[in-house]
Amino acid sequence: MVKVLLTGGAGFIGSHLAEELVKRNYEVYVLDKLTYAGNLENIKKLLREKNFHFIRGDINNKNLVKQLFKKVDKIIHLAAETHIDRSLLNPDIFVKTDFLGTYNLLENLKNYPRERFIHISTSEVYGTALIIPINENHPLNPQSPYAATKVGADRLCYAYYITYNLPIIILRPFNIYGERQYPEKLIPFFITQALEDKPLFIYGDGENTRDYLYVKDLCEIILKFLEVPIEKYKGKVFNIGSGLEYSVNEIAYRILEYFKKPKNLLKFISDRKGHVKRLICDYSKLEKEFNWQPKTSFEEGLEKTMKWYLENERWWRKIKKSKVFQRFYYLNYIKRK
Ligand SMILES: NC(=O)c1ccc[n+]([C@@H]2O[C@H](COP(=O)([O-])OP(=O)(O)OC[C@H]3O[C@@H](n4cnc5c(N)ncnc54)[C@H](O)[C@@H]3O)[C@@H](O)[C@H]2O)c1
Repeated sequence: MVKVLLTGGAGFIGSHLAEELVKRNYEVYVLDKLTYAGNLENIKKLLREKNFHFIRGDINNKNLVKQLFKKVDKIIHLAAETHIDRSLLNPDIFVKTDFLGTYNLLENLKNYPRERFIHISTSEVYGTALIIPINENHPLNPQSPYAATKVGADRLCYAYYITYNLPIIILRPFNIYGERQYPEKLIPFFITQALEDKPLFIYGDGENTRDYLYVKDLCEIILKFLEVPIEKYKGKVFNIGSGLEYSVNEIAYRILEYFKKPKNLLKFISDRKGHVKRLICDYSKLEKEFNWQPKTSFEEGLEKTMKWYLENERWWRKIKKSKVFQRFYYLNYIKRK
């Protein structure tokens, strides 16, 4: 059985990926610190499976990471602090986890070579699109501490490939959405606010756009990268997205319409500092190489996601009641200048 270390496997994307890996008979080791964004409920069903192991710990823990590296064949690295707005309030933990945490993993890869290391980067590394759509050669202009620490991690991976010839693949997903996404992120935030008859806060004029891809489509292509010939793909970077852009206003309207909620729930507030105006993915490199295309349309994926939040109130209400969520909500939306 191929053994895979999955960092951040109790988070949104990680828990979907863990499910798929277990289904496909990999032996899965999830390393997750269970920060406010990590949630054991996301992987509750997997905890019973023989080929699934959960280890609570920090990717910065040198000894723990070393022990785990010795056990596995392949690594998929997702663990990160992921919320841009939180990075504006407290960048410190982003530098520690996203940059230094990745550095610790790479040092272990250098010392205990494994078959491959898949690094999950992000489209945020590009900043506002200078050329439409964004391909992998677009300049890296990070516009938030989150994006900057992810650029650091992304380029550190590349440097470890170039200098030590390590088997590293870098993937840059655009915006991902779906079931079990922490409700501070745009789509689940709007869905749950609408369900609670609370304001859908919109930064600036709401005309900023993003490229949205359904989480299961992302997982499918990450799994493909677990099996491609590594000599051919090491050191390569791939964008993953849908090639379609949606504005914040458009998403808010769709959600209000679906739940039959009034438009006066929309509340326009001051813009996010450094707000990226436009992100749209050119995934032609991926398409050419693997004949890959997103399977799920935005309409279909959004409907599945809205249904899930409607049917899983207990999951998100518990999070929204938590102190950590309430504090962020207060600082970011209520106390906002
Ligand atoms: N969600 C998106 O739209 C999106 C888009 C592009 C890239 N990404 C990248 O994908 C990855 C996963 O994103 P997500 O949306 O699932 O995030 P998430 O916030 O839902 O999950 C992150 C997980 O990492 C864990 N974690 C955080 N710090 C840790 C540490 N120091 N050690 C171990 N575990 C730690 C958390 O407990 C959590 O389970 C991230 O690297 C993110 O940058 C996400």
